[in-house]
Amino acid sequence: MTRSILVTSALPYANGPIHLGHMLEHVQSDIFVRFQRMRGHKTYFVCADDTHGTGIMLNAEAEGTTPEAHIEVVAAAHRADFQDFLISYDCYHSTHSEENKALSETIYLRLKENNAIRKASVAQLYDEQKSLFLADRFVKGTCPKCGAPDQYGDNCDQCSATYAATDLIEPKSTLSGTTPVIRDSEHIFFKLSDETEFLKRWTSSGTLQEAVKNKIDEWLDDGLHDWDISRDAPYFGFEIPGEPGKYFYVWLDAPIGYMGSFRYLCDATPNLDFDEFWGPDSTAEVHHFIGKDIINFHTLFWPAMLNLSGFRTPTRVQVHGFITINGEKMSKSKGTFITARDYLEHLSPEYLRYYYASKLSNSVSDMDINLEDFQQKVNADLVGKVVNIASRCAGFIHKQFDSTLSQKVETPLFALISAKHEAIAELYEQCEYSKAMREIMALADQANQFIAEEAPWQLIKSDDTRERAHQVCSDGLNLFRLLIIYLKPVLPALAARAEAFLNVAPLSWQDHAGQLTGHRINPFNPLLARLEAKQVEALVSVPVEAANPATDREAADDSTDSAIIDIDTFNQVDLRIARVIAAKPVEGADKLLELTLDLGDHERRVFSGIKSAYQPDSLEGKLTVVVANLAPRKMKFGVSEGMVLAAGPGGADIFLISPDSGATPGMKVT
Ligand code: 2FM
Ligand code: ZN
Repeated sequence: MTRSILVTSALPYANGPIHLGHMLEHVQSDIFVRFQRMRGHKTYFVCADDTHGTGIMLNAEAEGTTPEAHIEVVAAAHRADFQDFLISYDCYHSTHSEENKALSETIYLRLKENNAIRKASVAQLYDEQKSLFLADRFVKGTCPKCGAPDQYGDNCDQCSATYAATDLIEPKSTLSGTTPVIRDSEHIFFKLSDETEFLKRWTSSGTLQEAVKNKIDEWLDDGLHDWDISRDAPYFGFEIPGEPGKYFYVWLDAPIGYMGSFRYLCDATPNLDFDEFWGPDSTAEVHHFIGKDIINFHTLFWPAMLNLSGFRTPTRVQVHGFITINGEKMSKSKGTFITARDYLEHLSPEYLRYYYASKLSNSVSDMDINLEDFQQKVNADLVGKVVNIASRCAGFIHKQFDSTLSQKVETPLFALISAKHEAIAELYEQCEYSKAMREIMALADQANQFIAEEAPWQLIKSDDTRERAHQVCSDGLNLFRLLIIYLKPVLPALAARAEAFLNVAPLSWQDHAGQLTGHRINPFNPLLARLEAKQVEALVSVPVEAANPATDREAADDSTDSAIIDIDTFNQVDLRIARVIAAKPVEGADKLLELTLDLGDHERRVFSGIKSAYQPDSLEGKLTVVVANLAPRKMKFGVSEGMVLAAGPGGADIFLISPDSGATPGMKVT
């Protein structure tokens, strides 16, 4: 039976770049979509930028532009990132669209008609310095439930409690740093608490992972609060019908953005019917992929709103955890905040798609990207196992057998691997991608073992066994084709290259039943390059050696024709006196010390390759010279904000340039 399936990823905020954390989700949902399409289901995949709210308004203001212009620039970058990561959206729209406005108004008015809206005056935090009611993200304080410090005004990232910003203990405006005052304002509420019984039923209907359901049960047992869906001007969003000066809270129209994007797609696609997917009697499936931080919005507010406004509710909400890099949260100062674009500048998207797939399961636990493991797994599995089969077999077929495969498939492995299609499909269906990848790699091992045991490179040597070599290589390429079918949802570009090499039309899941016999193949070009350590290291650092002044200087010494520079060029270098106020070794670095420098009016952190010559303690208090206008450099261990000058051949003989006493921090060196 052909299913109709609509898949969404959470809508990224239009206030920052797409990073590898976002990409995990978009890759996860894209694999699901590509798999469903390969199975022949009518599958649509939509997303959009989430564009409303105070944050975006303030960002635009800070950039001296309008929110509309700001969100357009961001959307173009987001779109390019997803496209280059091979995320196959049918539509990537915006929540600031006519479609979304119309749907938000419809839903709101229907909720109102159904007596699910009420008004109440609320005491709100107001920043008197900025003349602004403070959005939840612009106030921080201590969580009223678990006491965790530094929590935002809507929910706690430690205990997941949701609360009103006024409940925060010791709130501070993050915009001005001042303590906000409490002001009354009339707000509009969605009566979520009336929907408790419906939500109990909906959350128990197989829509959620077990761990997610358990979390929601706790919230339901604690009792639901009505939900404040309005914000006062100034606010970038949609004005609420009949309520001048009041705007829909961004989280009201954000999930409606899923529908808005789909509506836009329907309007542009003949015979695609919006109601088939969103009407109350829809038999289509709607799958939302989200991160664990936004469960409440998708499993409480969203289904309740849909239910009360005459639309269908989601079939499934698939929740994933967060990523860490080398065991730690992504961090700008540690150089591990990797944007999608940073990644793409160094590596092909499919390496990461495969690595994510090899670690993604149906659980909500966090995932660590260990860069060594990343390199090792990609090389061992994709290059060493899968592509290896094709490269071992292709040469013989081309050189010895006129590029043509044998007339039959003989190995019993073909039937065995082909018969796994159902089990592997079920793993994709359940989002158990890591299990699917393990299964596929175990099959690739068997295929390689078959080729190794038959050793076509020996068989080819004698006329008696030459035909056997033809058979083995033809069988090998048929096994390779099956593995490519199974990997295609994860590795669409590799699959396209393999299809070109095998000289076949785009492979679908059903093709597991077919074989290539008496078939001509195309020349073999390398399908995937090995991942080199240097490429992976470049993701998080500039090479450690580059920060070693001795190495830099040696290179200069070796040069016999060092370029002469004029005085203007020299004057561009801002050399300043600095005092070392702290020095310490850098964990994991052989040559570096981390120096904290006093430059008179501010402090800097500089990594310097002088560890082999100095005990850290001996440096404290010393004066030195720093290149103060060197662009900060992102290194594996953090950002280095300048460079200290040193001389000497290296090892114990590195001498920090140290001026006479009397020089003071910040003084310009001329
Ligand atoms: O958490 C976020 O990044 C939100 N922009 C996700 C919105 S998902 C949907 F509801 F729109
Ligand atoms: Zn808490």
